[in-house]
Amino acid sequence: MPRTLALQAALLAALLQSAPGHSADTDPMARGRYLIAIGGCNDCHTPGYAQHGDKIPESTRLTGAAIGFSGPWGVSYPGNLRLTAASQDEEAWLTRARGNGLPPMPWSALQAMTRDDLSAIYRYLRALGPAGEAAPAALAPGQAIPTPHFVFVPQPPTTQKTSQR
Ligand code: HEC
Repeated sequence: MPRTLALQAALLAALLQSAPGHSADTDPMARGRYLIAIGGCNDCHTPGYAQHGDKIPESTRLTGAAIGFSGPWGVSYPGNLRLTAASQDEEAWLTRARGNGLPPMPWSALQAMTRDDLSAIYRYLRALGPAGEAAPAALAPGQAIPTPHFVFVPQPPTTQKTSQR
């Protein structure tokens, strides 16, 4: 009887392996890439991605941005995720990723992820490897802003045409 069971288990394992599945379900690196894609992380952390999308090669993505987001919190800069992952061990990175910080980073999205998901993102960033420069440090409110920046402050309605094109 145990031999039959073992045979059944082996058959099941073989079937599962040959079943067509998304590699993001099994390979942590592929899962990390997938989570970054559906999380919209490139929009802020990859310079030019919001404008050019997938034309930006993967090898140059997630290197952070020197264009700040200015608001009541001061000015925040999307970090160079590849440098921070390369310089931290997994536990330190997970602690930071589950922590909190300035807008408009969607911290709650990272907090809602499972440990396995965050770990997959970390592995993907490590696989990409370090590249680019560190993003500028955040600025407290009320300081001069030495970089280009988006202003995140609600504006009153206007009757004039707003398009700059
Ligand atoms: C709307 C823009 C925006 C999006 C989208 C975004 N981020 Fe961020 N991210 C930021 C900003 C700005 C900071 C800096 C926040 C601060 O200074 O506290 C940041 C900081 C971080 C940090 C900590 C700094 C570092 O370099 O490690 C991590 C980790 C991070 N983001 C991961 C992600 C991941 C993963 C996603 C996708 C799920 C994502 N971010 C999506 C803007 C964004």
